[in-house]
Amino acid sequence: MNESLRATIERLTPEIVQLRHELHEHPEIRFEEHWTSDRVARFLDEAGIPYTRGHAKGTGIVATLNGGPGKTVVLRADMDALEIQEATGLPYASKIPNRMHACGHDGHTSCLCGVAKTLAHHKDLIKGTVKFVFQPAEEEAAGGRFIVQEGILDGADAVFALHGWPSIPAGNIGVRNGWLMAGADTFRIVVEGKACHGADPGAGIDPIMVAAHITTALQTVVSRELNPHDAGVVTIGKIHAGTATNIIPEKAVMEGTFRSFTPEVRDKIANAVRRIAENVALAFRAKATLELSENRYPPLSNDPVMTDFVRETAGEVLGTDRVQEIASPYMGAEDFAFYLQKVPGSFICLGVNPDSRNPYPPLHNPLYNFGDRPIPVAMTLMSNLALRFLERG
Ligand code: NI
Repeated sequence: MNESLRATIERLTPEIVQLRHELHEHPEIRFEEHWTSDRVARFLDEAGIPYTRGHAKGTGIVATLNGGPGKTVVLRADMDALEIQEATGLPYASKIPNRMHACGHDGHTSCLCGVAKTLAHHKDLIKGTVKFVFQPAEEEAAGGRFIVQEGILDGADAVFALHGWPSIPAGNIGVRNGWLMAGADTFRIVVEGKACHGADPGAGIDPIMVAAHITTALQTVVSRELNPHDAGVVTIGKIHAGTATNIIPEKAVMEGTFRSFTPEVRDKIANAVRRIAENVALAFRAKATLELSENRYPPLSNDPVMTDFVRETAGEVLGTDRVQEIASPYMGAEDFAFYLQKVPGSFICLGVNPDSRNPYPPLHNPLYNFGDRPIPVAMTLMSNLALRFLERG
C-alpha cells in the first residue's frame, strides 16, 4: 500500500474520531438529518472538496473528486439514527432524548468524510472520479431509492459501502458473494369488527380476538407454504386496539414485516398474508384489509467480481487474516440493495467488536457503539478500493 496514503490516514484519524463523537452526540432520524448534513458540508468545505446538497428529499450530500478521465466509483455512507434512548453512558452519548446512533451510522458517515479528505490530499493518485454519497433515511424509509431515482449513480462503474458488524472483531472485515441481506416488506392489517359492551360480546364482533387468530395463522406461511429450502420470515411487531377493559373495540390494527430473497417467495408470502388475514376475519364475521408499504427493501446481492476485488484489496492492505467470509445471509434489510440493483458493487461488513472473547451489543440496541477502532480500518479499505478500482481502468 502507498506509504504516504497510509501516513495521511494515520494523521487524519484523530480528527475523524472526534467527528464521529460529535455526530454520535447529535443523532437525527430519517429525513431530519439537518444538523448532520450541515456538519458534513462544513467538513467538506474545510477540506476543499466540492459537493452538491439537497439530495434524497433534502439532507443528502454528494461530494465529488475528479482526477481526470477514467471510470467512476461511488462510495456511500448512511447518516440517520434511530428512535432509541441511549444507554451506553459514553462521554459523547446522545444529547437528544429518544434518539441514538444505535446502528452506527455516525461511524459510517465520519469514515466516509475521512476517506474523502484522504483522497483529496492524494488527488494525483485518482485516475478517474470518486463520488461520495452521504445518504439520509436508511432506516425504515429506504432513502437509498431516492439517490438512485435522482440519477446520482448514472454512469457509475462500481459502488461500495460498509456497515459496522457486531459479530466481527474490530480490525477485521466480512465479505460474501451474492445474497447478504434479505428483501423486506412492511405491512398493516386493519381488522374491522363491531364495538359493544365487554360484558355483552354477542352484540358485537371482537376484532382483538380476530387479530389474535390472524397472528397465529400467519405462522403457517413460512412453516406450511414455503419450500423448506427457501428462506422467509413473517413477523407481527405491533397490535393496537381498545381503550378500556370493558369495551370491545370497533377495530384492531396489526403491523409487521416479512422477509424474502426471491420475487417468487416474496409474492408467495404477500399473497398468503393477504389470503389468511382476509379469510380468517371472514370466518369470524369481521373484515380484514391488508396494506403493503411502498417502503420496500429489495434483497441485497453482492456482485461476485466486485466482492473478489474487495477480498483481494483488503487482503493486501489489511492482511489476509483480517478478511473473513460471512457464512450465510442475514434476514435484516439494507437500502444499499437499490444501489446494487443499478451498479455492480459490494456491501462490506466492518468488524466493531473490540474484545472478541465477549459478545458485543447488537445493532439497534441501546448499548451499541460503532467505536473508534474501526475508523482507520474503514478509511484504509475504502480509500484503497476507490484508488485501485480506478487504476485498473
Ligand atoms: Ni444500519
